[in-house]
Amino acid sequence: MMIALRLQLLLVLLLGGADGAWNQRQIRKKIHQLRRTENFKSFYSRLGFPNGAPSYVPPIEGLLTQPLDHFNRRNNDTYRQRYWINEEFWKRPDGPVFLFIGGESAESEFSVLAGEHVELAQKHRALLVALEHRYYGASINQDGLTLEAIRFLSSQQALADLASFHLFISQKYNLTQKNTWICFGGSYPGSLSAWFRLKFPHLVYAAVASSAPVRAELDFTDYNKVVAESLSDPVIGGSTKCLDRVKESFRIVDSMLHPGNVSILEKDFSSCSPLRAPEDYVEFVNNLADIFMGAVQYNMESPGSDVRKICEHMVNAESAYEGLKIVNSMYMDFIGLTCVENSHEKSVSDLRDTKINPVGVGERQWYYQTCTEFGYYQTCEQSSCPFSPLNTLKTQLDLCKEIFQIPPESVRQSVQFTNEFYGADHPKSSRIIFVNGDVDPWHALSVLKNQSRSEIAIFINGTAHCANMGPSRTSDPPSLQKAREEIASKISEWLRSAETTE
Ligand SMILES: *[C@@H]1O[C@H](CO)[C@@H](O)[C@H](O)[C@H]1NC(C)=O
Ligand SMILES: *[C@@H]1O[C@H](CO)[C@@H](O)[C@H](O)[C@H]1NC(C)=O
Ligand SMILES: *[C@@H]1O[C@H](CO)[C@@H](O)[C@H](O)[C@H]1NC(C)=O
Ligand SMILES: *[C@@H]1O[C@H](CO)[C@@H](O)[C@H](O)[C@H]1NC(C)=O
Ligand SMILES: *[C@@H]1O[C@H](CO)[C@@H](O)[C@H](O)[C@H]1NC(C)=O
Repeated sequence: MMIALRLQLLLVLLLGGADGAWNQRQIRKKIHQLRRTENFKSFYSRLGFPNGAPSYVPPIEGLLTQPLDHFNRRNNDTYRQRYWINEEFWKRPDGPVFLFIGGESAESEFSVLAGEHVELAQKHRALLVALEHRYYGASINQDGLTLEAIRFLSSQQALADLASFHLFISQKYNLTQKNTWICFGGSYPGSLSAWFRLKFPHLVYAAVASSAPVRAELDFTDYNKVVAESLSDPVIGGSTKCLDRVKESFRIVDSMLHPGNVSILEKDFSSCSPLRAPEDYVEFVNNLADIFMGAVQYNMESPGSDVRKICEHMVNAESAYEGLKIVNSMYMDFIGLTCVENSHEKSVSDLRDTKINPVGVGERQWYYQTCTEFGYYQTCEQSSCPFSPLNTLKTQLDLCKEIFQIPPESVRQSVQFTNEFYGADHPKSSRIIFVNGDVDPWHALSVLKNQSRSEIAIFINGTAHCANMGPSRTSDPPSLQKAREEIASKISEWLRSAETTE
């Protein structure tokens, strides 16, 4: 599977796209863990640890009973949805409410403890609340992943959950029209943030949508086009030479994918199992591509996602093929792997598994959402893609059929409907900030130009996925610092305008 967008770590915001390969899942998992650690550190440094006195009120964690199907009140099934509340900064009773929206992974208490939205909440004395997405993390019934039960997983149900959470919080704290709500999200939840404002303007006054792929796309060929551009972008340590070497290495690998040579590939790239069926060949080349895709999408977020370093290896190695071997083993060290799983059968059985995993990214759930709403298949059939053309739309759509019995035509129609329903990359709304980084491949599906005076696009030079969502750091590049200032100043302006227009 592809590396999805995502990272909600603290925001673990990871978006995954989808290519179905195993490495993508490993990368997402790792980034998820790292983000947690990062949030942790930032949170404790805010408290002044290890020297300062830890005088903080722990966040409230709770479970809200929600209808499983908001759109059929005769179905009385329910599930319990996890939320967090941080009252630490709140100016009672009229202070604003900042809502952090969860996405395709488990959330944690850090969703109300660290990150850009927490810094803004401190400044504006806001009540911080966060809601985990249905079917992810702990917000799922025990049988939730069966084919029968997963039907009620959708962005539309998720938005209805947010409306019902708004009611719950309003009642709990006796909120009124004077409490101005602003929502935040990054990656898929970035889209939800924009859509919550779009569809429920009476509930939320403004939204920040970071790295939000609001335009659904069946065949997301532009993802790898941006990856190619980033690999040749000198601003982040790429070069034309690097891109050429990557292309060459994949040509060589492709030429070796026949029974006479595969055993060399298995050995050189530490495959856990022999490459048997043609499906394993696809899995194998996708796994190799995932390393580059992950490095670009999460550039500089972790020691393993570093375009500069990867390009140095590719360029300095004796040959393109040797470079690819080095990059692969560097990746394995980073994740802590002794071999790479290239079995297509294994990949499919992982996605078929209905066992609930309360931590990390919900891979089965997310693939289901790609099949029923978004597509986002990160294919490689166009010449702009530097990796193997074995990664076709067909191989990815086949998974929808294989895993969820959803035929390709239905996926196609669902993607079209999603764009019709939400307005794709021209949503007609107001008071939304769309923030993107030009290195992040997902920016290709987001809003990059101002749509109106209050639907604003901020496009950051040199940053990757959801860079603005983490806590501010002194190491932030000037372009990111400037973006943070613009976001903060818009929020201040909107909060002032909410007060005067009451
Ligand atoms: C749920 O609905 C079923 C039939 O529609 C009914 O038998 C059952 O009593 C309902 N349960 C609750 C808790 O209302
Ligand atoms: C909300 O209002 C009710 C009734 O006026 C009161 O009993 C309750 O304590 C209030 N709750 C909060 C959190 O202020
Ligand atoms: C691949 O196999 C062919 C013979 O089938 C051989 O000539 C060639 O050297 C092999 N390639 C590599 C890189 O070993
Ligand atoms: C977009 O809107 C922002 C805020 O109003 C403004 O500062 C910026 O100049 C606009 N950008 C363009 C390209 O018009
Ligand atoms: C992006 O930043 C780099 C320096 O880090 C600069 O050379 C380049 O011109 C900038 N690009 C744009 C479009 O501003």
